[in-house]
Amino acid sequence: MTYARIAGTGGYLPERVVTNKDLEAMVDTTDEWIRERSGIKRRHIAADGETTSDMAVVAARRAIEAAGITSNDIDLIILATTTPDKVFPSTACIVQRRLGIKTIPAFDVQAACSGFIYAFDIANRFIKTDGARNVLIIGSETYSRILDWTDRATCVLFGDGAGAVVLQADEEAGVISTHIHSDGEFEELLHVPAGISSGYATVQREAAYIQMKGHEVFRKAVGTLGKIARETLADANIDKEEIDWLVPHQANLRIITAAAKKLGLPMERVIVTVDEHANTSSASIPLALDVAVRDGRIKRGDLLLFEAFGAGFTWGSALLRF
Ligand code: COA
Repeated sequence: MTYARIAGTGGYLPERVVTNKDLEAMVDTTDEWIRERSGIKRRHIAADGETTSDMAVVAARRAIEAAGITSNDIDLIILATTTPDKVFPSTACIVQRRLGIKTIPAFDVQAACSGFIYAFDIANRFIKTDGARNVLIIGSETYSRILDWTDRATCVLFGDGAGAVVLQADEEAGVISTHIHSDGEFEELLHVPAGISSGYATVQREAAYIQMKGHEVFRKAVGTLGKIARETLADANIDKEEIDWLVPHQANLRIITAAAKKLGLPMERVIVTVDEHANTSSASIPLALDVAVRDGRIKRGDLLLFEAFGAGFTWGSALLRF
């Protein structure tokens, strides 16, 4: 039986840091409000001209190096993003070219903030069925380009960045289980209304940016994350006390705290980066993972639970031994 195991992680954050104080000068908000309601203190914002693929390539190289392999060993690239460089080709293909890897399959996955979990689920299935041995999974986002910087309800919550992992075939698990779900019923609660087939060149300015009913999204996220955690543990027949680290999508500290509470996990066993990164959508889990692996908190053999919730709505989880 072939299993998948994380062989290496990598991350990248743009150089420019925007603090809550900086935002006070741009919209009617305060550092105190942002910290209290979201836990966010600062976020990284891509430089002019810096793209999703630019960030993805750096994170990918770091993950490949950490895995102790070379780009030529990668046999599949799956890139999760909601903010691709171009309409087409996929950002995965742009990254593939820049990594100098020829002919292997490369494609994008779009599941908003759950994108990394979706990509992880697909990669795990490829490995389990012997369809690939070294999968490069990347989450990379430039949300700064789809934010209305005059809308205080949304612009304070997001940031840019990229995270990557190399998922490798192994005889031992590794990944124990993955779960993904969606419910299109809630499309309008969190969306960017403009799109290609709906005629994005002709729409109102606001339609090109994130629109969100924050309170409704918050309530739905907390309830759904509680359910997915229970589903994941029951399916694997694992007790919640056995989890070493919860690595959640980083949208809001209050959502993360509620999820940890439902699992009975103290915050000391939860990886939190939302204070430093804000919400980087599909990049948030691999970025948080990379931070905690590199600072030595997450160690080989630890039992990890990833969980995410995002627009769609989409949601999902992964349970794994690191
Ligand atoms: N600064 C100051 N005030 C702000 C503000 C800001 N940046 N943004 C909104 N407000 C105001 C609102 O206008 C509202 O004012 P009103 O009561 O006079 O109408 C008030 O603050 C409270 O807004 P509300 O939306 O009820 O606050 P909240 O406690 O729900 O927190 C969010 C707002 C957005 C932080 C929270 O709802 C949230 O995190 N939602 C989920 C977002 C998310 O995670 N999205 C991505 C999912 S992947």
